[in-house]
Amino acid sequence: RPPRQFAVPLPVPRRARPTRSANGTDFYGIAQREASVEIIPGLKTTIWGYDGIFPGPTFTARSGRRMEVRVLNKLSVPTSLHLHGGVTPPHSDGYPTDVLVPAQCGAAFKDRGMTSGAMAGMYAPASDWTVSEGYKTYTYPMGQRAATLWYHDHRMDFSAPQVWRGLAGMFLVHDQEEDALPLPGGERDIPLMICDRSFEEDGSFRYPGHSPSCTGTPGVEHAYMDGVLGDVQLVNGAPWPEAEVSATRHRLRLLNASNARRYHLVLRREDGGTLPFTQIGGDGGLLAAPQRLNGIPMAPGERFDTVVDFTGCPVGSQVTLVNTLAGGRMRQVMCFRIARREKDASHVPAHLSRYTALHSASAVTTRHFDFRRSDDAWTINGRPFSTSRILARPRLGTVERWRFTSDFHHPVHLHLAHFQVSSRGGQAPEPTDAGWKDTVDIRPYEVVDVLVRFRGYRGRYMLHCHNLEHEDMAMMANYQVV
Ligand code: C2O
Ligand code: CU
Repeated sequence: RPPRQFAVPLPVPRRARPTRSANGTDFYGIAQREASVEIIPGLKTTIWGYDGIFPGPTFTARSGRRMEVRVLNKLSVPTSLHLHGGVTPPHSDGYPTDVLVPAQCGAAFKDRGMTSGAMAGMYAPASDWTVSEGYKTYTYPMGQRAATLWYHDHRMDFSAPQVWRGLAGMFLVHDQEEDALPLPGGERDIPLMICDRSFEEDGSFRYPGHSPSCTGTPGVEHAYMDGVLGDVQLVNGAPWPEAEVSATRHRLRLLNASNARRYHLVLRREDGGTLPFTQIGGDGGLLAAPQRLNGIPMAPGERFDTVVDFTGCPVGSQVTLVNTLAGGRMRQVMCFRIARREKDASHVPAHLSRYTALHSASAVTTRHFDFRRSDDAWTINGRPFSTSRILARPRLGTVERWRFTSDFHHPVHLHLAHFQVSSRGGQAPEPTDAGWKDTVDIRPYEVVDVLVRFRGYRGRYMLHCHNLEHEDMAMMANYQVV
């Protein structure tokens, strides 16, 4: 009995509030815990959530203000928290074997858990793990511009099943440049975490494979290594929700938080026409100038910061967010109901930000990363993940050209470093490749060149496929900023 579409109001996750602030640092506390929530009307779902909600609370950070987040793990499984898009020092970056283990399973985990997973056992020897018991404090210096980031679990071997159960949230960075723009704000600035899930008859999440445990077998089964798709579309944790909006401009921050599903999003009006998006930003913040897009392709991990103008829509009418890549019920994502007219002082200025365009000539070297399937794992440059193998050693402060090739759709994500797409399939990048990015979809047999700027910190970071089943099936690699 799939739930009715457009019957549940769109939830907007509450904001995380600092417990205290001192000397330019805001301190937060958050607990990862189980909770029973109503996702499908009339049924209960046990989630694993940050503060027991899914999505987790939305963090709002200020560029230049340090943040410390003390994370308590009250789940029965180890976790690792990654701030996706964050310019974060290595110890707080959520490396897969840098785990936060619940106090009561710490000993068992050190005994057996570290080496029991499919990939962990083979590629992450016990000496390469860092184990925090009970809680861990993550430091986010926030030396970065305004952007729409998100945070999610990154535990070795188990990212896919643990994110599926709810460990994901939005994280917005603001700065003065963005403050000065007359963009829609307040209730008209809406984060939309888009992901698919499946449910059992009783309302519990359905994910193929073993339930993650402290020391047990890995989450992703071989038969599902291409990626797990759901048959219920969620936005902000609600199935096919409806948002009541006024006939004004709205800022919609789109995030594809799905494990493996890709989208091509279009806004369809009741009269059959479409409503365009005005893209104002990408993964890494504002574009130099807005651009009009009729459709938005989004691979797992990507964000599109957009403004949508509902001014011309009749009161009472509906605008449906459609995924043209899907059929049946999954073709609809959510809908907007135009509830009333209101004054609107916002607009999208022709100039948005001081944006540094990178040029190929500034690249000090070119490196090649090939994403491909082997028999029982997904590989980068022919090898599955190993904690000890470093594929590249870029120098801090430089720009490099990284060339990605693939045999499948692989959304390639870099920790720490942001990049600009410089060519796709031998051609100039597409309009939807614009801006600073941290995730780029490589289509089957395509060559994509990006210019990567390494700044912030030295240390070991990773690049990996953001199809979470590919990631858990070893499609990760290290690079080290030197
Ligand atoms: Cu959003 Cu390493 O991941
Ligand atoms: Cu992949």
